Amino acid sequence: MKKGNILIKNASQIVTCSGNKAKFGKDMSDIHIIENGSVVIEEGIIKAAEKTEDILGKYDENNYEVLNLENKCVLPGFVDSHTHFVFGGYREEEFSWRLKGDSYMDIMNRGGGIANTVKATREASREELIGLGKKRLDSMLHFGVTTVEGKSGYGLDYDTEIKQLEVMKELNDIHPVDVVSTFLGAHAVPAEYKGKQNDYIDFMIEKVMPYVAENELAEFCDVFCEEGVFSVEESRKILLEAKELGMKLKIHADEIASLGGAELGAELGTVSADHLLHASDKGIKDMAERKVVSTLLPTTAFCLREPFAKGRYMIDNGCGVALATDFNPGSGFTNSIPLIFALSAIYMNMTIEETITAMTINGAAALDRADTIGSIDVGKKGDLVVLEYPSYKFLPYNTGVNIVEKVIKNGVLVYSNGIK
Ligand code: NIG
Ligand code: FE
Repeated sequence: MKKGNILIKNASQIVTCSGNKAKFGKDMSDIHIIENGSVVIEEGIIKAAEKTEDILGKYDENNYEVLNLENKCVLPGFVDSHTHFVFGGYREEEFSWRLKGDSYMDIMNRGGGIANTVKATREASREELIGLGKKRLDSMLHFGVTTVEGKSGYGLDYDTEIKQLEVMKELNDIHPVDVVSTFLGAHAVPAEYKGKQNDYIDFMIEKVMPYVAENELAEFCDVFCEEGVFSVEESRKILLEAKELGMKLKIHADEIASLGGAELGAELGTVSADHLLHASDKGIKDMAERKVVSTLLPTTAFCLREPFAKGRYMIDNGCGVALATDFNPGSGFTNSIPLIFALSAIYMNMTIEETITAMTINGAAALDRADTIGSIDVGKKGDLVVLEYPSYKFLPYNTGVNIVEKVIKNGVLVYSNGIK
């Protein structure tokens, strides 16, 4: 039997999320269900996804690892398209201060926040970061995540930004979860450049970004476009340079203030604009028109006690929404996929079908990978999630509970929780 050959049969539902690009507006409700379905994967690639009765006569079960999934629902592997998962240290004290009333920005302006994690990440060895990264990827995999994006931005100097990106490259090689890397040198201005914001931007553009691009250490470039961090003009400058160097673009947009980040994303044609808690009506319209994926991060809003992004309104106005965790040590120290499903369905008024599109094909589109992952379609990677229950509707219904029973990556069963 060849590696990556697996045949799953008798699943009560196969939710295919079929498609090869982001779904916008009403199309987000299309998740395509095969009742009593089977999927055939050969050498890691999906060969067929049909009704069990149509599959079984055509394929010889002796050539596959066979899983009988009666009463189970199968979905594409989840795509967590926005995280900051490679970092040293933790910030539990800051979290407790926030509970007492300090704001995220108060703490950042006092020299805490991102700067705190930068110090710990600069001090951490490569081996430590790889060890932590592996553990975090294991946890993601147990939640059904088969592809994750990770950002630099806790170095803010040449050596540590490169170290973070090289760690992600190595993790991608050694761990079943695929890691997509993003350069986020413009996450904050480090203490040594205080008052010299322009010099820092020039240093990134002239010294760090060319090395990152030349060595293919990051597929995307992102900027924290925020009041008191990087302005719209500065963000535009950095992103245009990155584009020139061949990187694809992302933006942290309108997270804390309504600055015009969504509009800038649309203007530059970023692959996604992320956060969007305070995106303006014009920004929302522009993202829909320019087909920029709107990535919403409800656990961050929840942890910061901020109002959730207007997911319902965005979809009703034609946006293509993706959902992601923003897993990081500050604004949201959680990689919980069950919490994402619960918050987006219960508080952001997204339908269950829309939340599934947002965690699969639209997450893939936010990483410009909708042609290879994010749905159960012939020719795509054999990345599947098996739920403990017969219907996808259990995802928000069994609120906050991990109901992922098995995960298949490139046609190999890489996680099974043992529940029968
Ligand atoms: O997406 N907003 C900027 N970056 C992260 C938080 C980073 C941190 O606090 O360490 C975010 O929320
Ligand atoms: Fe973020």
